[in-house]
Amino acid sequence: MPRQINEDTDPLLKINPFRVMTVMARAQELESQGLRIVHMEVGEPDFSTAAPIIEAGKRALDAGLTHYTPAGGITELRDCLVAYYAEQYGVEVNRERILITPGASGGLGLLANLLIRAGDGILLSDPAYPCVRNFIHMMSAHPQLIPVGLSQNFQPTLQQLEQYCQSNTSGLWLASPSNPTGTILERAELKAASDWAGDREKHLLVDEIYHGLHYVDDLPSVLELDQSAFVVNSFSKYFGMTGWRLGWIVVPEEYVATANILAQNLYISASSIAQHAALAAFQPETRAIFEERRLAFRRRRDFLAQALKDIGFSLSDNIQGAFYVYVDISRFSDDCEKFCHELLEQHGVALTPGTDFGDFESSRHVRIAFTTDMESLQLGIERLRAALL
Ligand SMILES: Cc1ncc(COP(=O)(O)O)c(C=O)c1O
Repeated sequence: MPRQINEDTDPLLKINPFRVMTVMARAQELESQGLRIVHMEVGEPDFSTAAPIIEAGKRALDAGLTHYTPAGGITELRDCLVAYYAEQYGVEVNRERILITPGASGGLGLLANLLIRAGDGILLSDPAYPCVRNFIHMMSAHPQLIPVGLSQNFQPTLQQLEQYCQSNTSGLWLASPSNPTGTILERAELKAASDWAGDREKHLLVDEIYHGLHYVDDLPSVLELDQSAFVVNSFSKYFGMTGWRLGWIVVPEEYVATANILAQNLYISASSIAQHAALAAFQPETRAIFEERRLAFRRRRDFLAQALKDIGFSLSDNIQGAFYVYVDISRFSDDCEKFCHELLEQHGVALTPGTDFGDFESSRHVRIAFTTDMESLQLGIERLRAALL
């Protein structure tokens, strides 16, 4: 008889399923009955992967590039990222410090193994992308959640870092822009967080997966300010390659060897085809497609933010990046799960309950994604108005 899960102590029991998956499954069921559902729950771009990337993927297949690659990824792709950091952020990052991973998810798993030991505490925002908390649980460590609200742009303040830091705290994990809130850490805030972590010998990890999909002029990478920080990024969002499962991490020089050993053991290498396809992401014609898409997301954001305010929701005046609006629904409900359930069942609008992202005021929030076209967003707003006003 295999060992049973201990109901009191097993960290796996702290890992919650995503409520959004239940919403998506039910939405599909309703669609199969012929109903039109407006999808405002989905956390991935509605655009398919840009044509030059698909073509490069096909060429890689035809050329038989179907084998394992070095654990850290193919040299050409890492060199593209070296050039990208120089061009976008004006920072020099040695190729060895960049490891290509199976999505940001693979990168987060690797970094959790690299940086976290049983019993450690990791500071992070509440609300935040739920997997982060779960990776910490998987390491038998403790997420130390910092409640962040609208008045502080949903990002932790320096006073809070001080307040929530405990004797076992070993690191600080931030995201800019954030999922689910779409807010960023301004340059000065990021610098302050990095100084804080450095002074207290805590590691700093920044999830930069929504970089590129931002609507502000200045969105610094933490690497501009702190070369000892760890970065997670991905080809999923801005580069529109969710299904290819490709991301990357940047680690400080002294962690390169161990990170490679972990990569070899955890997944051997990221997909070879995806890596060769991603080379095309750095060509000017592909970059132009990404820019067009970013502008489309910005137009959707402008429309949605205003329309949601007109209905009576409270939300940030400044959704600075990603493709989410984190909306306070308290004028209409204090139970986001019931609210989402009723909107889906009775009005055909799919949203993600705030309870997916944390505990702090989560039952009076929902995440609304603008990952669907303008016509669908307009229909979604019409249905929300009909349901609530
Ligand atoms: C903040 C954040 N980090 C990481 C991920 C994982 O993305 P992927 O594994 O597709 O790169 C996501 C996906 O939604 C995310 O929102």
